[in-house]
Amino acid sequence: MCPSTSQSTVPSRVTAQSRDGRTFTFGATGGPSYGPGDMVVVRAEDVTVLGQVLEVGEPPSSGASADDPATTLGTGMVIGTLDADGVLRRASRPPFASSPLTPAGPEELAGLQRSTAAGLTVGTWHTAGDRTTADLRAGGFNRHTFLCGQSGSGKTYALGVLLERLILGTDLRVVVMDPNADFVRLGETKDGTPGTEAARLAERIRVLRSNSTRTEGAEPLRMRFRAMTRKAQAAVAQLDPVRDQDEYNAFITLLAQLGDVDLGILLGSMKEGTAAEQRLARRIENLGLPLWEVWAFDLPSAADVVTGAQGVTVMDLGGFGDPAEPLAVCLEVVDELWAQRDRRVPTLLVIDEAHNLCSTDPGNPVAQLLLDRLIQIAAEGRKYGLWLLLSSQRPSKIHPQILSQCDNLMLMRMNSPDDIAELGRVFGFAPQEMLRASTGFLQGEALLAGGFAPVPMRATMRERLTHEGGSDVAVPVVTPGS
Ligand SMILES: Nc1ncnc2c1ncn2[C@@H]1O[C@H](COP(=O)(O)OP(=O)(O)OP(=O)(O)O)[C@@H](O)[C@H]1O
Ligand SMILES: [Mg+2]
Repeated sequence: MCPSTSQSTVPSRVTAQSRDGRTFTFGATGGPSYGPGDMVVVRAEDVTVLGQVLEVGEPPSSGASADDPATTLGTGMVIGTLDADGVLRRASRPPFASSPLTPAGPEELAGLQRSTAAGLTVGTWHTAGDRTTADLRAGGFNRHTFLCGQSGSGKTYALGVLLERLILGTDLRVVVMDPNADFVRLGETKDGTPGTEAARLAERIRVLRSNSTRTEGAEPLRMRFRAMTRKAQAAVAQLDPVRDQDEYNAFITLLAQLGDVDLGILLGSMKEGTAAEQRLARRIENLGLPLWEVWAFDLPSAADVVTGAQGVTVMDLGGFGDPAEPLAVCLEVVDELWAQRDRRVPTLLVIDEAHNLCSTDPGNPVAQLLLDRLIQIAAEGRKYGLWLLLSSQRPSKIHPQILSQCDNLMLMRMNSPDDIAELGRVFGFAPQEMLRASTGFLQGEALLAGGFAPVPMRATMRERLTHEGGSDVAVPVVTPGS
């Protein structure tokens, strides 16, 4: 076949054939256009086959017959057959001889969406010149999802759309780790939002913030030293079990005696203790840990809020004095979710700018423990109902042991061929030509592929119902004459 192009002109008569019932080839001589991802229908002798175009080459020279194998214009994948009621039978994939191929119409696409329980409308689906709703399968979020695209491609906006639909359409428990306060207004709907939707969004969302960023309605984002794992406590004190053998040993021995106590009690005891304990006290004070704003004291901790209800918790991670504070509170939340994994509460852990928490190079002991836990959730979380939804600009910024566990891909505009090639390697289920088309995506356009999509879809995200939080900073333009 000739090198593929994203869109080609083909003849009015297009025929397809399939020898194995799984893939098909098609040939043509001028007329409608098909591109990678387009949904098509082949009406073979006694069945209607639903298929998807994967690759399209150059149009054959004029005068060639559409039935001539030498004029093969493109290849596609058989999705299944459609019965008389429009229900998709994925198991049924009969081979077929040269049969007419046409664009799938709204009825066939609706049949596909019904048959795959795809009901979360996230935008508009572009296929074969037609437009219909792009509906995702809520049930397909029972695996990890990676949302990728270059800066400004619309990831955070699209994440907001996904969250709105998941909040309205499921009872999932959701935790949003939000580094830029982008989701702090996720419960506030715009004018014109239907009342029931506005009420559900408002009542299901709790927003936790630091003191410096807290606004009306927001609750404090806090954690408890005494509830942390021993490893996490040692990590905030930057104690290494090998490098700081004596101090680490004094630390865990004292905590074993005192039990689960808060930092103030631990510190008081250290100051009156052995020389090693007094050194520990100085270390903790030098690190400024007693001054951390994130300690809960009598307030509820984020882990209590997240695990105490079935709702949606937005953790605004900005505004703390010490960069380790937001990491520590995230660690406490994921540790607690993991500790309670046997309860099997379906939970979606959403991390925007996920390279901050899932990087290949964590900068400190708390970040390392958090990464270790997220790798564990990526590997084993599915069986406990703990699923990740991660957003980042580049696949290479995410730890490979996390990325390789993602089974859903949402790809927005992506310029870098290297990044597209890497996505192709990791997400083998996403058709190569559809991945490559992402270089031409407009803001808000996305490829949706994996278990959450009935088939790989190119879509434009719908408008958000809720207000965005932080937004791009505009360039202050000088008006002539002012
Ligand atoms: N579908 C859309 N409709 C309307 N506005 C959009 C849409 N997508 C993005 N925008 C706007 O474009 C700007 C950039 O979008 P967004 O913040 O979502 O990009 P991003 O991919 O998350 O970028 P970054 O990687 O830098 O965080 C925002 O101001 C947002 O409001
Ligand atoms: Mg963003």
